[in-house]
Amino acid sequence: MSTLAATAGEQQFDSIDLAALSRADRYKILTGAVIPRPIAFVTSLGPNNIVNGAPFSQFVILAVDPGLLGFSVGPRTGSEDVKDTVANVKDNGEFVINMVPEGWEVVVQQASEDHPRHVSEVDLLGFRTLPSRRIKTPRLAGSKIQFECKLEQVLQFGDAPNNFVVGRVVEMHIAEGLTNNCKIDPQAYAPLARIGGRSYVRLGDIVAV
Ligand SMILES: Cc1cc2nc3c(=O)[nH]c(=O)nc-3n(C[C@H](O)[C@H](O)[C@H](O)COP(=O)(O)O)c2cc1C
Repeated sequence: MSTLAATAGEQQFDSIDLAALSRADRYKILTGAVIPRPIAFVTSLGPNNIVNGAPFSQFVILAVDPGLLGFSVGPRTGSEDVKDTVANVKDNGEFVINMVPEGWEVVVQQASEDHPRHVSEVDLLGFRTLPSRRIKTPRLAGSKIQFECKLEQVLQFGDAPNNFVVGRVVEMHIAEGLTNNCKIDPQAYAPLARIGGRSYVRLGDIVAV
């Protein structure tokens, strides 16, 4: 019997009306279900060109012609103000998505703490930066892949509201030795992903079919 046939019909489910949950429970259940999520550590320029850094795991490839990446930003906790990243990308029209390597669990978590707009999480946490080639916003040293992005659109979704930031990739940087003919070696890349709450996962077994 196939694996699909063997599991059909026997499984019992808890069926949940998301609208009946509190916002906190909706957040918990959605971010616990859609896992693992890659993490976009976004650098953007704030007032006086301070380098803001914040992680976003509601993150996706939207198109390849051209290369468009997007991430969704909720409102600041306890208010309807936008997070610094949204304010910055709207002001400057650019940002960098730095992919997160294994070993950055603690700093990523720390970078997500709420700081005033004039505080640079990048400086505060001691990240080293590298200049970008096509935009002013710097990249993070130690990240193995970075995307320099020009802002394409900011779309609003939901009641909160959430700002979905879409960037066009104008330059991509890949650590030496990670690619062969545009194929990235996932084991050497070893990106970190987020699961629920303060938990992260590393790349596990690779199943090739
Ligand atoms: C791993 C991780 C992923 C996160 N993903 C998101 C996300 O997708 N959307 C969001 O609004 N906040 C997300 N957060 C929370 C933001 O990082 C946090 O609100 C941060 O303070 C925003 O910074 P900013 O005000 O400098 O933009 C995440 C936090 C962590 C630790």
